[in-house]
Amino acid sequence: MSMRSSLLAAAALVFAVGAAAETPNLGQSITEADLALWDISVGPDGIGLPQGSGTPAQGKTVYEQKCELCHGKEASGGKNATLVSTKDRTVTNYVPHATTIFDFTRRAMPWPQPKSLTAGETLACAPGQLDTA
Ligand code: HEC
Repeated sequence: MSMRSSLLAAAALVFAVGAAAETPNLGQSITEADLALWDISVGPDGIGLPQGSGTPAQGKTVYEQKCELCHGKEASGGKNATLVSTKDRTVTNYVPHATTIFDFTRRAMPWPQPKSLTAGETLACAPGQLDTA
């Protein structure tokens, strides 16, 4: 190795070490337990669905108590996203799989208490939105 290459290699090493030492040192390493809370994807084939069950009648009750305030009676006309419409593009007429609605509902609803529903409550009310479409 020539003198010039050696100097360049040494300079690169000093720079790399210096750059590593200059990380902001923010946050903390994610744990397996933290990851497990978010590793809950459900595929279109239903793989990943949790154990649980719910009937349309139970789903209607959950909807009335925890969703209707924002999404309206019969899933339209509320102050937030209309879930069902015959003329506008909504989650029930552009999402092809009930499992996607389930997945979204489980992760994000009911706002502002996401993940507060049991698996059975979510199973009961999420696909029910398609029934009303
Ligand atoms: C406090 C208000 C509030 C409550 C209660 C609530 N939501 Fe929502 N919901 C929202 C808002 C805001 C959005 C986001 C709308 C957007 O991004 O356009 C949303 C979006 C959605 C969407 C996606 C709609 C789309 O077009 O992408 C679904 C599905 C949904 N909510 C289902 C539910 C269900 C089921 C419940 C009850 C378990 C619920 N929500 C309770 C406010 C609420």
